[in-house]
Amino acid sequence: MNIDYNSQNNTFHLYNSKLSYVISVEKNQFLVTQYFGKRIRSFNMSRRHWQYDRGFLSNPDNADKQFSLDVILREFPDTFQGDFRTAAYRIRSEDGDAVTRFKFAGHKIYRGKQDLSGLPQVDGNENDTLTLEIYLLDDIRNLKIILFYNIYEDVAVVTRSVKFINDSTETICVEKLLSMNIDFLDEDWEVLTLTGSHLDEKRQNRRAILSDQIRIESSRGTSSPQATPFIGLLKPQSNEFVGDCVGITIMYSGSFEATVQKAQFGSIRTQIGINSDGFSWVSNPSESLDVPEAIIAFSDEGTNGLSNEFHKLFESRVIRPQFRERERPILINTWESFYNAIDETKVLELAKVSKDLGFELLVIDDGWFKNRNSDASGLGDWVVDGEKFPSGLAALSKQIREMGLEFGLWFEPEMVSKDSNLFKQHPDWVICSHRYEPINSRNQFVLNLGIKDVQNYLFEKISTIIIESKVTYIKWDMNRHLTDLFSAGLSNSQQGELSFRYTLGLYSLLEKLNLCFPDVLFENCSSGGGRLDPGMLRYMPQAWVSDNTDAIGRINIQEGTSILFPPSILGNHVSDIPNHQVGRITPIQTRFNVALLGILGYELDLTCLDDKEKFIIKSQIDFYKSYRSLFQFGKFSKLYSSNSNYNAWQIISKNAELIAVVVIQKLSPNSYRVPIIKLAGLDSESFYENIESGEVFGGDELMFSGISFERVRTDFYSWLKIFKKVNK
Ligand code: DGJ
Repeated sequence: MNIDYNSQNNTFHLYNSKLSYVISVEKNQFLVTQYFGKRIRSFNMSRRHWQYDRGFLSNPDNADKQFSLDVILREFPDTFQGDFRTAAYRIRSEDGDAVTRFKFAGHKIYRGKQDLSGLPQVDGNENDTLTLEIYLLDDIRNLKIILFYNIYEDVAVVTRSVKFINDSTETICVEKLLSMNIDFLDEDWEVLTLTGSHLDEKRQNRRAILSDQIRIESSRGTSSPQATPFIGLLKPQSNEFVGDCVGITIMYSGSFEATVQKAQFGSIRTQIGINSDGFSWVSNPSESLDVPEAIIAFSDEGTNGLSNEFHKLFESRVIRPQFRERERPILINTWESFYNAIDETKVLELAKVSKDLGFELLVIDDGWFKNRNSDASGLGDWVVDGEKFPSGLAALSKQIREMGLEFGLWFEPEMVSKDSNLFKQHPDWVICSHRYEPINSRNQFVLNLGIKDVQNYLFEKISTIIIESKVTYIKWDMNRHLTDLFSAGLSNSQQGELSFRYTLGLYSLLEKLNLCFPDVLFENCSSGGGRLDPGMLRYMPQAWVSDNTDAIGRINIQEGTSILFPPSILGNHVSDIPNHQVGRITPIQTRFNVALLGILGYELDLTCLDDKEKFIIKSQIDFYKSYRSLFQFGKFSKLYSSNSNYNAWQIISKNAELIAVVVIQKLSPNSYRVPIIKLAGLDSESFYENIESGEVFGGDELMFSGISFERVRTDFYSWLKIFKKVNK
């Protein structure tokens, strides 16, 4: 790992063993992307971006008609300077003038990382991270931009962020400040985005980019199920295992924008950052503004390779250290068991059965607090419902813990219902315009987490319950998006800060809770995977992937989620049939096999099961326990399947001694074409035993010839095979 600066040609080369990123300074002023991709030893312009006078372009130097900002490959493109592709920033002074002229003004290279105030960051220290700071200066206005670039020892990732500093004597309005921009010279890429909806999160869309742009965004105040803050650039020939892939995401959980734009002469512009639509930030003299950290990953080993880089990064540098290697408990959750019709007797009965079946954590979901018999009321006060739980939470938790189970609880802290005392006492804490009734969504309103008193109130409520009831797990839910964006506490010109301040407030609250309760496991939920993004991962090492608990419905959701996130954070539950969301009836083995990709849980009323069903679930839990570290911390790959009716997943243990393969047959085919599934990442010289059948195969055979399955005439069937490396 190093950052070389070549003063002869004004070029920076950031590299580690996998990745190179080369930036140069043209005409002593303009930053140019020269290369981002597989590690090269040095960069000597073998591939030059030849310029010529194309006519009708703007030229910053009238004497050089060959040079136009509209053509060169830019690192942080400006506004109103003749680069008519999308800009990375726009800064306006009090008189309305948004013409700025930032020029390169120096750099600094050091070990370790900068600090971004109030924002989650990828971990990096002096031994494993190098930082390049590049300074851009507008010396007419006395404004400064610092571009941060970080390279890490062990992962094919560069992180970037930006600081704006107002060194002038006037108040400045930052209207747009993205976290990164990279322009690629080669235009033959396909674009991968992850979009969707509630119950259908992280749908993968892969398509060519034509002479146009693809922009995904959220203006919902959260990253959202509709669009994940991620864009992938994939070489058209690439697949799961081969080909160059670039992935870009961001450590941010609020409204964002991400753009891929093909320019008039073919180059590709990529950007990610806070959504500039609706955003503005007032910067007084001497103040500065940090924006979220962007993550840019590379792999020449296809989409699995790209995912593995993200997985490695998140597991080793984003999830809090306490949870990096900690096995997650197998939980039973009360939501689909009882919904809001929950009470102490039902919970205790469920706990007894759960303990017998081998569960480790009982989670009381929604419905435990006063006035919560439906989603129409009750949020905000966080007082237990004494009728449903006459002994109180602390006593219930004690009984559950005495049975040998941990005690977990659901909260939706960011919300308030109209009938709550909180709403009556603090109507001003709700995000709304004083002119109108706020818009309802799930009958609830959003608290303004940008207000310190709101953060303190929530901290007080949650921490009291954690302490009194010895809660070791919290499911943190968020079930509506932000509307009516106005805050009486902010001045006229600051209203555009509200959404960003909300997210900063959320981070600050979570940071405090993490600090005070380092061992409490937080599970991130927003009506399922609606805020499943790298920013939240910093505070919550586990996430509820989707409210869609149907095994077949979840296949694509889990595959899409796995593009970015490793199995160790993905909460998946086996639920009842017919499935509550889609009505499908699937075998319990398939529900289990699909849930195996990550952290296993169950979400059904176990007390209603017959002995045979209980026996099956107990066996599944015993099985999962004996391979838990494989399923939670193994390396995940989507396997090539010769037939699209079959999805195939593989998890291989860190030491490559154990391999689990799950294959799902969606429908029973009309005529059977034997699907061939090829394993990956095995040692071709070694042998592997199928632990169920005892058959032994060479690693080469499993990878190159593959495995197949005899015909099963049932829809939604699945196979689970475990192979173990053996000496032969
Ligand atoms: C939405 C979540 O995704 C569900 O799992 C459940 O917790 C409900 N909210 C409860 O209201």
